Amino acid sequence: MNLNQASKEAENLRKKITQHNHKYYVLDDPDIPDAEYDRLFKELIKIEKEFPQLITNSSPTQRIGTTPLSEFKEIEHTDPMLSLANAFNEKEMQRFYDRLSTELSEEILVFSGETKLDGLAINLFYKNGVLHTAATRGDGFTGEDVTLNVKTIMQIPLNLIGDNIPKLLEVRGEIYISHKGFFELNKNQEKLKLKTFANPRNAAAGSLRQLDPKVTSTRPLSFSAYGIGNYEGKLKFDRHTQILNQLKNWGFPVSVESKELSGLKDCFDYYSHILNIRKKLSYEIDGVVFKIDYIEKQKILGNVSRSPRWAIAYKFPPIEEVTQLIDIEVQVGRTGTMTPVARLSPVNVDGAMINNATLHNLDEIKRKDVRIGDWVYIRRAGDVIPEVVSVIKEKRKNVKEFRMPKSCPICGSDVKKQKDKIAYVCIGGLSCDAQKNQAIIHFVSRKAMNIEGLGEKLIYKLTENKMIENIADIFSLKQNELSALDRMGDKSASNIIESINSSKSTTLAKFIYSLGIPEVGESTARALENYFHSFKEIEKSSQEEFENISDIGPIVAKNIKSFFTQENNKKIIKKLVAAGIHWNESKSNYSSNLKGLTFVITGSLKNIKRKDAEELLLSLQAKVSSAVSKKTDYLIYGANPGSKYEKALELGIKIMNEDLFIKMLKKEKLIN
Ligand code: IVH
Repeated sequence: MNLNQASKEAENLRKKITQHNHKYYVLDDPDIPDAEYDRLFKELIKIEKEFPQLITNSSPTQRIGTTPLSEFKEIEHTDPMLSLANAFNEKEMQRFYDRLSTELSEEILVFSGETKLDGLAINLFYKNGVLHTAATRGDGFTGEDVTLNVKTIMQIPLNLIGDNIPKLLEVRGEIYISHKGFFELNKNQEKLKLKTFANPRNAAAGSLRQLDPKVTSTRPLSFSAYGIGNYEGKLKFDRHTQILNQLKNWGFPVSVESKELSGLKDCFDYYSHILNIRKKLSYEIDGVVFKIDYIEKQKILGNVSRSPRWAIAYKFPPIEEVTQLIDIEVQVGRTGTMTPVARLSPVNVDGAMINNATLHNLDEIKRKDVRIGDWVYIRRAGDVIPEVVSVIKEKRKNVKEFRMPKSCPICGSDVKKQKDKIAYVCIGGLSCDAQKNQAIIHFVSRKAMNIEGLGEKLIYKLTENKMIENIADIFSLKQNELSALDRMGDKSASNIIESINSSKSTTLAKFIYSLGIPEVGESTARALENYFHSFKEIEKSSQEEFENISDIGPIVAKNIKSFFTQENNKKIIKKLVAAGIHWNESKSNYSSNLKGLTFVITGSLKNIKRKDAEELLLSLQAKVSSAVSKKTDYLIYGANPGSKYEKALELGIKIMNEDLFIKMLKKEKLIN
């Protein structure tokens, strides 16, 4: 065989293998025996071995990469990955329907009804029909590049099949693990004495976030497509259901339960039907999704902040089971809060074994009248911590009342009830090991400083051995100190030091969040960054100034001020900065939700000056243009809008009235 013949033959084999993969993994309907498939595969390997120059990235032989990554790169989504608003009952669903019905002036709305798979969202980017990159949702704007791992998922085509292959295509869908896959994976993990997963969703996320694609390739990951993002191609789509159909033709698995629905009754019937068959499905779902089918109408409705106004997830009620409450213990959190936790006789709630459930606080225990020894209902919904719902009083026998301990079970310090609050706290502060450890665990966590390899157990060991006392000490750890620890190899120690070092480059918001200021979560930290753009400013600002930021109330403002006033915290921050933790404070470097979007403003605005509106948009890295064109992303309109408004409607551009615009700016924390 010469090179030319080999190239043709390789191409031919790849086409055949791709078709057979599709039949086997997607349609579940193979039409050749396994031995024949293996023969084709071996033939291709042989040719690629002889002519390595013919190997392409998307060859079926290249699904499993050989070298593990050291980290995942970030990928910016060209079209943001939105999430869905939820409805939890008929009333909320009815309200959603009525709102859309009014806005579209239509009585009978047409929807695409779909199951809501409980896995994780993924964006698959195809260039001329070849899988180019795959990214997780991340914060909706940037995600992690998991291409190598995604390539190991046999249900995901490396090359599209069929006709009308588009120039660009972003496929949006869910990566998940079936019930059977989950069961087998956990069995195997147990056999290997590795950590088991709490539920299929965690198992899927954990499997996709492996740095070594070889590990991912052993995990039973599945995929289902439910939409598209960016698209450039010959085919034009009028309806979402057409898109789903075309995705099927291009070789993607699409839920067989998807259905076109007309009117609210159809939606309710679909919900009941899926709820009825839920237990029979081979994978976990947590609700159904309704999407306005006509794309034109989706455009008219547009998006608010991070979710489309034309779609909703109608969630299923959480699943409850009965078990006995054996004991109540208290857990001491990062800020000293004592949370009573129910120790349960293990019970399987919708596929996950539950041993503990939260009781939230003492008031809750009293309100629900929960006693040690009671039979209780346990509820679990998605990823949230299981909770004790109620007590079966008829079954009550030999029970004991719970009392909040007077001293902290960890450090022995006094326990005090917080003023104006329900929580009891240990007053030990950072001299309490529980609080110390929790503060460090929070600091290194993924959404904070993201120091990989510093797990909970290791942190306990490090504090126990007095190798670290506080978060700043992490940065003085030495590799030889770490590798001297039990069960710690040189390689792991050096990996940890490396991730400590690379964590030093962070963002202002992540740094603030990682400090663990009581009640300052990610979004408050982001609001602080967006408002001040400077750590020094935050440190010296007054409580009143913090209260100026929308969403920050007096309690949180007080927490922030008192955090930065404490000498010990000042010392630790100084050490952290001296260790080299840094971030960029220039305004242009923070990423706003509107980055890169083009806006046009028309008509007269009531509550904000045109100039100010433009400036605010620019500060959010959006573009402001004076004329409406296909490139316009949003038209903001005030009173008497005129021709720009007409043109935007004609071009199907998303429009937004002044009120919505103001709401959006509030969301971005630019105005109060
Ligand atoms: S559509 C534009 N459809 O649910 C709307 N999402 O918050 C984008 N999900 O992140 C989502 N099944 O991971 C859509 N049939 C379905 C879905 C689905 C599951 C997940 C997805 C998304 C989350 C919604």
